[in-house]
Amino acid sequence: MKAIVQQEYGDSSVLHLDEVPVPAIRDDEVLIGVRATSLNIGDWHLMAGLPLLARLAIGLRRPRQGIRGMDVAGLVHAVGPAVTAFAVGDEVFGVVDGGLAEFAAASVKKIARKPAGLTFEQAAAIPTSGATALHALRDAGRIRAAQRVLVIGAAGGVGIYATQLAKAFGAHVTGVCSTTKLDLVRSLGADEAIDYTVSDFTTLGASYDLIIDTAGNRPVASLRRALTPAGTLVIVGGEGGGRVAGTLSRQMVAPLRGVGSKQSFRGLVSVTKAADLATLAEFVERGELSPVIDQSYPLGQTRAAMNRLETSAAVGKLVLAV
Ligand SMILES: NC(=O)c1ccc[n+]([C@@H]2O[C@H](COP(=O)([O-])OP(=O)(O)OC[C@H]3O[C@@H](n4cnc5c(N)ncnc54)[C@H](OP(=O)(O)O)[C@@H]3O)[C@@H](O)[C@H]2O)c1
Repeated sequence: MKAIVQQEYGDSSVLHLDEVPVPAIRDDEVLIGVRATSLNIGDWHLMAGLPLLARLAIGLRRPRQGIRGMDVAGLVHAVGPAVTAFAVGDEVFGVVDGGLAEFAAASVKKIARKPAGLTFEQAAAIPTSGATALHALRDAGRIRAAQRVLVIGAAGGVGIYATQLAKAFGAHVTGVCSTTKLDLVRSLGADEAIDYTVSDFTTLGASYDLIIDTAGNRPVASLRRALTPAGTLVIVGGEGGGRVAGTLSRQMVAPLRGVGSKQSFRGLVSVTKAADLATLAEFVERGELSPVIDQSYPLGQTRAAMNRLETSAAVGKLVLAV
């Protein structure tokens, strides 16, 4: 099969379109004929081997698994003998290891039926970012209707879903983004949109019951000032934390700030499960959640898509059609 393969860490020039064997599936896996895949900033980290600490898990000198791509949508091509929930021909979406390829092996614990009415490209734009947004709001944030919610990075991969889901949960939503993305954030349903290049929301006097931070570039102490006395800050991530540990330390240390306070500070580690994907599909089918696609590329142009991901210029998700 054709796949985008990397043998070493580096920039997008390490990615090559190559011929590799179709992956074998285990008893509890299905083989997906991939029709579309989308990029996450996590794919960039795995490509670059950064932060360096991550190499302990993914390969010290070179990636142990050379095919990037975690989010896919496609057709079930074969099923393992222990699989009862899916049959050949089913349309599915979910998370795999090696989605930038014509075929990918998937655990049944990480896929669900593709939402009705979505194309494969739209469905592929949802899994990791959508599930992260759901976990941040529903689980870590324990969101409730009528709360005031601030989404920092509301136009980003996670933010486009967090903004829409927070509205669907009945919250009053304020989205923080850059100038060119204000219209997008309003179109996602945000009640207010703040341009971070013009205003500092921590000094505007507003307080939020729940802050979802996907940008990770403000001190937790200043975010704390924008929280209500019993508010919750969920730290999803952010770039710029350095080559060695990234933003890991911010995630780990933040909860300590809540000790002795009614405010909560939570670092998020999101793992996408089949039940999350099914929940996201329900939001889509109720018309409460829509994927936003910046651009779709053929698989052979993965380098161009990865370069665009790196610039943060994309308005929505970057998709590869396979
Ligand atoms: N904890 C987990 O399990 C988990 C899961 C998934 C992702 N993550 C992490 O979460 C982070 C976000 O992921 P993503 O896919 O949403 O990335 P993304 O698409 O790059 O979005 C990040 C957003 O941050 C915004 N931003 C940059 N500087 C800002 C500032 N000074 N103030 C406010 N917003 C600012 C950008 O807004 P503009 O585009 O408007 O400039 C951008 O949209 C990444 O670090 C990723 O690694 C963590």
